[in-house]
Amino acid sequence: MYHAAVLTVSDRVSRGERPDEGGPLVAELLKNAGYEVVRTAVVPDEQAQIEAALRQMADGGDIQLLVTTGGTGFAPRDVTPEATLAVCDRLTPGIPEAMRYASMQITSRAMLSRAQAGIRKGTLILNLPGSPKAAKENLEAVLPTIGHGLEMLS
Ligand code: MTE
Repeated sequence: MYHAAVLTVSDRVSRGERPDEGGPLVAELLKNAGYEVVRTAVVPDEQAQIEAALRQMADGGDIQLLVTTGGTGFAPRDVTPEATLAVCDRLTPGIPEAMRYASMQITSRAMLSRAQAGIRKGTLILNLPGSPKAAKENLEAVLPTIGHGLEMLS
């Protein structure tokens, strides 16, 4: 069974001003798909803190899939894609391409997602948008196929 981690990126959730809806939903979808969710965390929209959390989770060596939710839009503080690019050794552009392709059938606003995905050592890092609805739609578009990529990673 693959191990997964979920990182919620949100200023307001990290300050306790609103409940985390996206993170638990993503964790539930991963569990339903057969992953064991071994870590969850919340960080504010600060690139250094996002990078530190991604490195810490990926470098433990026991997480194959690390999913972020939030911070992929155009707001000045949306920096999750930049943090992801900074920590990945190799990019996997087909995954965000597939998410946007599938999401464009639902809303043309899908083109506004700047989500990235890539590999750091043995971990696939995948960005999802912040709204629970968008996170679910994007994850469901790629989750059935990601397992084959993880097989090749190990
Ligand atoms: N993708 C799907 N499938 N459904 C959506 O509702 N919303 C879009 C986009 N992708 C959306 C979607 C919108 S409005 C934005 S701004 C971007 O995701 C980024 O979202 P974020 O800023 O919450 O990370």
